Amino acid sequence: MIKQAKVAVLGATGFTGEKLVEILLSHPNVEIVYLSSRTEIPVPYSKLFPRFTGKTNLNCEPIDVKKATEKADILFLSLPHTISMDFAPGVLAQGKKVIDLSADYRLDADIYEKYYKMSHKDTANLKKAAYGMPELFKKKIEKASLIANPGCYPTSVILALYPLLKEGIIENKIISDSKSAITGAGRKAVIEYHYSNISNNIWAYKPFVHQHVPEMVEILKAATSASIDLLFTPQVIGVEAGIYSTIYVTFKKVASEEQISAVYAKYYKNCPFVRRMSSLPKLKDVVGTNFCDIGFALDEKKRNAVIASAIDNLIKGAAGQAVQNMNVMLGLDETTGLL
Ligand SMILES: NC(=O)c1ccc[n+]([C@@H]2O[C@H](COP(=O)([O-])OP(=O)(O)OC[C@H]3O[C@@H](n4cnc5c(N)ncnc54)[C@H](OP(=O)(O)O)[C@@H]3O)[C@@H](O)[C@H]2O)c1
Repeated sequence: MIKQAKVAVLGATGFTGEKLVEILLSHPNVEIVYLSSRTEIPVPYSKLFPRFTGKTNLNCEPIDVKKATEKADILFLSLPHTISMDFAPGVLAQGKKVIDLSADYRLDADIYEKYYKMSHKDTANLKKAAYGMPELFKKKIEKASLIANPGCYPTSVILALYPLLKEGIIENKIISDSKSAITGAGRKAVIEYHYSNISNNIWAYKPFVHQHVPEMVEILKAATSASIDLLFTPQVIGVEAGIYSTIYVTFKKVASEEQISAVYAKYYKNCPFVRRMSSLPKLKDVVGTNFCDIGFALDEKKRNAVIASAIDNLIKGAAGQAVQNMNVMLGLDETTGLL
């Protein structure tokens, strides 16, 4: 068990990479030893992000797996999908651990190809990857060398639904309207994301075909013997951070608020980052934190419920959850550096 780890962040200049650096710099058991960029080379990291002045002297470097693995025990890959799988095999071959924030190790190869339009290049390691949601898969994460850190929308939806499906108390037809901050799309410049378009605005996109649908369905299927019929419509909203999922479910039998609360309490009693709220959650209560707040409203007679789940997309939906996974891998308290 390593109690003091040297870590690298590949893709440190992106939104999730920057958030990782912020969290890791104040983590008591970690030293950041390597930061990569593709374009900002060899720029001091604190010149790119002046808020880190005096906190790190590292320069951005191009990705050199040999050099990075000589320096670091754990490598966070904050890289675009289809790119992570170019680097993960070399890191794993050196006996070092990988926490991949992209989608490259989350799906079976055939489903990956269908949604990401590319054949998987590392099917050997794909089979060994643990899905990095500590609330549900802690035992696998403890032993894994490769973590597939979950997507941001899936984190909010899976945490809200998994206990109810596992208990077999809801119908398999589920609707989720999920709203995401624009930072969910990464740091690249796109005209549609200009301030004048995104501020005070909201729009739906990719109904039926969003690439996070198979990830949610695959993980939720593990909770139930029935198939899942998930109607998922993502929406972009003009806020900087956060995901708010509004999920509609029908109970198989009449259930009371107390029964539903007891189910969440059973699954999340030892989970410091899932908070069962007494009312519907609010986005601002989770922004800047690693919490997932879940609340619901019930129409007992009609057996319908609206479940709402809120996270910060860059923290519980990405960098925070990645550090939570690292803590579990290192045998540290899950909350270290995150509260
Ligand atoms: N944003 C979110 O809310 C969120 C949530 C969960 C998961 N994710 C996933 O996390 C990953 C990173 O997302 P992000 O939002 O941080 O992306 P981003 O802001 O676009 O940053 C991407 C990073 O990868 C580097 N990069 C891009 N292409 C590369 C290449 N071909 N070779 C090497 N490095 C390359 C970039 O370097 P330079 O720009 O310096 O050249 C940058 O540091 C993605 O797979 C994303 O799907 C994102």
